[in-house]
Amino acid sequence: MDTEDNGRRSFLKKAIFFLSGLIGAGLAVPSGIYFLSPIWKKTEEDWIELGPVGEIPKREPIKVDFVQRKKDGWVTVEGRSSAWVITADGQNFTVFDPHCTHLGCPYRWDASKKQFLCPCHNAAFGIDGEVLAGPPPRALDRFASKVVGGKLLIRPLSEKKEG
Ligand code: FES
Repeated sequence: MDTEDNGRRSFLKKAIFFLSGLIGAGLAVPSGIYFLSPIWKKTEEDWIELGPVGEIPKREPIKVDFVQRKKDGWVTVEGRSSAWVITADGQNFTVFDPHCTHLGCPYRWDASKKQFLCPCHNAAFGIDGEVLAGPPPRALDRFASKVVGGKLLIRPLSEKKEG
């Protein structure tokens, strides 16, 4: 009788121990996945608001500065950047990456020549971003843009194109 009770007690202890472990693992695995999930998430790039479209001059490129936040896992990195914005009608916008497509120098708008000029190797781009002179292998890179609620939003490039 005692041996039978001891055997039953021992079996129950093992069963309780096993079930406790199973329940613990059932709770720990989803929690662990939820906690670690930011590691596997790629960098998110959201739309960035540049401002009211009414403040953007027509037919004259304007350089707009903005703060870009990138999430990588648990870390959010903030960086200052800018974009060249052009509109002819205040409704349709072209937004250029502010880096020359040759070696990435910042370029400027020359209002008298009506060209974007890169001082690094004397490149020139038209107002449409096409190469007019110099070594750049392609036109200026463009950011995606859209107008929502009267505000201009852009989505900067996640990777640079190869020349
Ligand atoms: S970086 Fe602009 S021309 Fe070379």
